[in-house]
Amino acid sequence: MYKLSNLINDLENVLQKTVGIEPISLRISNNPNFDFQINNLVKFQNHKDIKNIENLFSEIINNEILIKNFEITDTYFVNLEIDIDQFSNSFNKIKKYIKVQHPETVLLDYGGPNIGKPLHVGHLRSLNIGRSLYLIYELAGHNVLSDIHMGDWGMPIAQIITYIEEKKINFESIDIEDLEKIYPKASKLYSEDNKFNDLAQANNKRLNENDPKILKKWRKLKKISTKSIKETLETLNHNFDLWMGESDVNYLIPGMIQKLESEGKISLDDGAYVSNFVSDPKILITKSDGSYLYLTTDLATVLNRIKLNKIDKTLYIVDKRQNLHFEQLIKSLNYFGFGDEEYRHIAFGTINDLNGNPYKTREGDAKKLIDLFKETSLQIEKINSDLDSETNKILTNTVLTFSDLKTNRMTDYKFDLNKFTNISGKTGIYVQYALVRAKKLLKSSSINSSNINLKVSDLDENDLNLIRGLIKFEYYFNLALKNNEPHHLADYLYELSNLFNTMYQNENILENKEESIKLNKLKISEHFISYSTLLMECLGLEPVEKM
Ligand code: ARG
Repeated sequence: MYKLSNLINDLENVLQKTVGIEPISLRISNNPNFDFQINNLVKFQNHKDIKNIENLFSEIINNEILIKNFEITDTYFVNLEIDIDQFSNSFNKIKKYIKVQHPETVLLDYGGPNIGKPLHVGHLRSLNIGRSLYLIYELAGHNVLSDIHMGDWGMPIAQIITYIEEKKINFESIDIEDLEKIYPKASKLYSEDNKFNDLAQANNKRLNENDPKILKKWRKLKKISTKSIKETLETLNHNFDLWMGESDVNYLIPGMIQKLESEGKISLDDGAYVSNFVSDPKILITKSDGSYLYLTTDLATVLNRIKLNKIDKTLYIVDKRQNLHFEQLIKSLNYFGFGDEEYRHIAFGTINDLNGNPYKTREGDAKKLIDLFKETSLQIEKINSDLDSETNKILTNTVLTFSDLKTNRMTDYKFDLNKFTNISGKTGIYVQYALVRAKKLLKSSSINSSNINLKVSDLDENDLNLIRGLIKFEYYFNLALKNNEPHHLADYLYELSNLFNTMYQNENILENKEESIKLNKLKISEHFISYSTLLMECLGLEPVEKM
């Protein structure tokens, strides 16, 4: 549990008895003499009980051993300074403190690749944010499940199969390169050619009726696609607990529609099923030709998930351009009464090129993730050709992940390889380098730092700044968890790396004649190493051993 939780609970109790329920929010202080601040009282400055509240607050804060000094200003800002002596005893118990009181089962739906299409740059943020949230929730003590939710059914598949049949391509000889070329051609033909369109519709119908002949073809395509997707994911260091797809829930749809109709939740309108939930635009559940929509499948997916696992919360980590879809999905789930679980769309913005346009290849396709990986790896090799291939791979993934997670997920960003690989910028390379340096320092000292005790009276300003930085771990961890925003932790990792570098570069630590100062710095470096490693874990980064 959060170390300052007792203090916050006590203060909340005071508020509850005086002004009513009011969650205390602890913030990072912008006053350099303090660590945290509480702004809740400001809006009650004219409340009749404010003097009484102030006295009760003072008494509680005075008794909190973690607080060394505090002030309540004229306008009722509460500023708190942490007692480093007290706090530093618990630095190595951080993993315990970040556990939540009530663990839940959380399902993360991310990745979402489609058969026939490679993983491309449009999947990068879903993968990075999804993996990071997975690790953060897990560290918080939740029971977490990831599901890649493959787009492996419906019209696109029917189009591909129809194309292969029409062009008399030998099914047995198709490989992933062929398949990736076929999909765009098939979908173009589908929108331009009426005859092709009819054939594809007929194939789609067969698919939904589970015609064995077409299912065999579908299976083959799925196998080729899945293999290639798995290879890319392995290179990028991603894995999933569940490999469910749209095809797994198709059989649930007819029963679901029937039940919703009999409950009066949906009705027929021109052949299409429409939700009776009043909204603008109306929520379409099936098309007028009876075929299913993206929404239909997502509704059935929820039924399937509830059936298989008890899930408290589902997060969909999907591009913000699908906002309307998830708004309609969540409204429908509530209206249809599909359980009282929590569902949230964790939206994110676009990755653009240097000119601010969506990142594409020269041919106009979305860039493949595997190509992005290769380009990044080459760039890293250009900067440092001495690295072994394993280190190069980890750094490549660090660049592709850190540059992505440091941006607030709602903000679009430009993919700038030169900037993202700069060793002195706010980059993955920079944070890796700081950690390598710290580990090297401890190793060359030949001192077992776990036996050192901090001597607080001998800390200099750089030491104190880094320690003050370490104190904020729980704060940023909770912020990231509460808002599903990994960027707080990426920012924080950079901040700590900066503070460590300042301490490190200021003097030659191992040559320091004052033993207690040297030991202090080694001890703080040890804490930095464990915090930086833990933050990397939260972000899905693997620390390199050398650089
Ligand atoms: N396959 C979908 C797409 O390419 C993304 C799936 C996201 N997850 C979901 N449950 N809808 O847009």
